[in-house]
Amino acid sequence: MTAEGGLPGSTGADAPGSSAADAPGGAGRPDRADWPDGAVRPTYRLVAIPGDGVGPDVVAAAKRVLAAAAARFGFAVAWTDLVAGGAAIDAYGVAIRDEDLAACAASEAILLGAVGGPQWDDPKATVRPEQALFAMRGGLGLFANLRPVSVHPALVPASPLRPELLVGVDMLIVRELTGGLYFGARTEATGAPGARAASDTLPYTEPEVARVARLAFDLARGRSRRLTSVDKANVLATSRLWRTVVHEIAAEYPDVVLDDRLVDACAMQIVRAPASFDVLVTENLFGDILSDEASVLAGSLGMLPSASIGERRTPHGLHGLYEPIHGSAPDIAGQDLANPVGTILSAAMLLRWSLGRADAADAVEAAVAAALDDGFRTADLWPHDPAVAEACTRVGTVAMADAIVARIGITGGITGAAA
Ligand code: IPM
Ligand code: MG
Repeated sequence: MTAEGGLPGSTGADAPGSSAADAPGGAGRPDRADWPDGAVRPTYRLVAIPGDGVGPDVVAAAKRVLAAAAARFGFAVAWTDLVAGGAAIDAYGVAIRDEDLAACAASEAILLGAVGGPQWDDPKATVRPEQALFAMRGGLGLFANLRPVSVHPALVPASPLRPELLVGVDMLIVRELTGGLYFGARTEATGAPGARAASDTLPYTEPEVARVARLAFDLARGRSRRLTSVDKANVLATSRLWRTVVHEIAAEYPDVVLDDRLVDACAMQIVRAPASFDVLVTENLFGDILSDEASVLAGSLGMLPSASIGERRTPHGLHGLYEPIHGSAPDIAGQDLANPVGTILSAAMLLRWSLGRADAADAVEAAVAAALDDGFRTADLWPHDPAVAEACTRVGTVAMADAIVARIGITGGITGAAA
């Protein structure tokens, strides 16, 4: 599990705990915790949105892992559980209520499972579960979606790609998240059958391109200083704007090597030579598609975490929304079958980016790697080769989380909660 690189404007100097302990309100406020030794240690205020389908299964698993990390490193988490997505449509008639969006804004970070399911899929419906995602992304200013893709060596047999192609794969997809086709004006289909028409528009402004490009350059600086900008500049006006702006910003980063790829060629290169990429930056829809494609490298869509961040800072880092990239998988919901690793690794990103807890983030990532090394596999990761499978243990969501929790203590930083 490779870290996604340095945090731009890193909070490394903010000793976690100091600002929480100094926060107005004092004892009794949720930013303080009572510990047996009487010490004041930080309590982070987080929102959990389990959502629909397998969302509740994987969020419960990630919460247990976070609790284990908190116990080990000496902090506490105060959770506010919110209903969003299809569950909120059933309960309230909207995908997310304004007061719940406000609670998200007031938290330090949000951990989300998944939203959506067949019962809310009617193309004629005006209320859709995905509106919760767009309300959070747009409403909270989360313009950048970070999707790291690496290959754990033990999962190479789970990928359909030839093993030699997977050596050295370690890429970070930076997807623009609040512009383009997702947020552009659209008209739903109108007209008589046989002559119906609909449209979506793909707008981008220079500031929208510039801020995500700067973030991607900053991230590339914390890694191997290579950035690939993905567009369709041979066809789209917005892609030509994208390319122009990215190249202008490149002048601020003479130490980062920039190259351009057309999205179709990039899609091919992701499966032909995935190790050739480091950081990729691209617009909203291209990033959506390329990140699902890239997940195949990691062995399963269930492995991949994501972080959505913007410019807003909280006491310990950047405000953010963390979620696995897989969907709600309603066919396996509530059956203890979902792979919780994408959500658990999202929780690790939350620790690193929003809480400034690189110590706990490293320990969670190391524990995931150790559980995989020790052969624990959910159904989606089960090796095709019977000889490889023989050395593995098939587990459900709960037992996978148990295996990871049991390994939180074995590697990582110094123990903080031992007193
Ligand atoms: C993702 C998902 C969402 C998206 C869907 C659920 C709307 O595919 O986060 O990648 O397209 O952004
Ligand atoms: Mg997607």
